[in-house]
Amino acid sequence: VRSALITDDVVAQLYGQQFCKELKSELFSFPSGETSKTRETKQRLENELLEKGFSRDTTIVALGGGVVLDLAGFLAATFCRGVDLVLIPTTLLAMVDAAIGGKTGVNTPQGKNLIGAFYFPKQIVIDLRFLTTLPQPEIWNGTVEILKAGLIGDQELFVNFSDLSWKERIQRAIEVKRRIVAQDLEERGVRRVLNVGHTVGHALETVSNYQLSHGQAVAMGIALEARISHAMGFLSCKDLAEIEKRFPPLAFDYDLDTVVQVMKLDKKIKDGTLYFALLKEIGSVALVGVPLEEVACAMRTC
Ligand SMILES: NC(=O)c1ccc[n+]([C@@H]2O[C@H](COP(=O)([O-])OP(=O)(O)OC[C@H]3O[C@@H](n4cnc5c(N)ncnc54)[C@H](O)[C@@H]3O)[C@@H](O)[C@H]2O)c1
Ligand SMILES: [Zn+2]
Repeated sequence: VRSALITDDVVAQLYGQQFCKELKSELFSFPSGETSKTRETKQRLENELLEKGFSRDTTIVALGGGVVLDLAGFLAATFCRGVDLVLIPTTLLAMVDAAIGGKTGVNTPQGKNLIGAFYFPKQIVIDLRFLTTLPQPEIWNGTVEILKAGLIGDQELFVNFSDLSWKERIQRAIEVKRRIVAQDLEERGVRRVLNVGHTVGHALETVSNYQLSHGQAVAMGIALEARISHAMGFLSCKDLAEIEKRFPPLAFDYDLDTVVQVMKLDKKIKDGTLYFALLKEIGSVALVGVPLEEVACAMRTC
């Protein structure tokens, strides 16, 4: 068995040599960043692998953040009709989110993650030491997904977040996602609860022209969706206050009507109704349809 370690140039610089030596792998890398997550990058790496004689008995080791895991995972899914995959997430977000659940893929000019496959790794290696070199904004991106996992399915994780160690935070967030994914491997229903904060969050990313990081946008999305849930009669005042304490919704100045227009263009709309994964209380979620004309108003008031 030959192993090919795929990573981006930032992670290659920090950890490439050490891991190639340890795993007796050959290194393949591409420029870091979301714009590299394309079919073109995948194709270039595939050609390199084939030229070097890699074939059916290859193990692909994906070392990096979500960009590397998604791209290398998709590559492993199609290389010689599928070869073994090992994931070594190096960002907090990748540890708790991108590495879990089997979704792989790349972006196209028409949108993000539109081409891909469900493909599960043989092994996932989580090592907290990677966090020591991770820039603070990337820590926040992952932290938001951990808090989101708490909101969805582990009340204590959300409420006692500050008292837990990184190891506990990560383990518990993974446990929540695992539990949900296990009920819905191919994202036909239940798995949509993972979208808490993301329906509004994605719209905010778009409206801000991607000036907001994913974590910033989802944090605001969680707060604004909590208001919608409250307005629909689900979330109590107490839980809403608890959420707004952690994610202040007013820390931004985007026009909420524009945000609704963007959500309208999204695929979550049917017969004038927008579908949300809304919190019923901290620790549980329901899939709810909200009439379009009520959405902006609900986000404004509380
Ligand atoms: N497959 C899924 O289920 C899933 C879930 C969530 C997100 N995603 C995808 O994940 C991607 C975002 O992932 P991300 O936030 O990890 O971004 P990323 O992979 O771009 O990593 C962020 C930055 O951190 C650098 N980096 C990585 N590890 C480092 C380390 N240990 N020390 C220092 N720098 C390091 C990277 O080079 C990059 O510049 C998106 O493309 C998103 O679509 C996928
Ligand atoms: Zn997210």
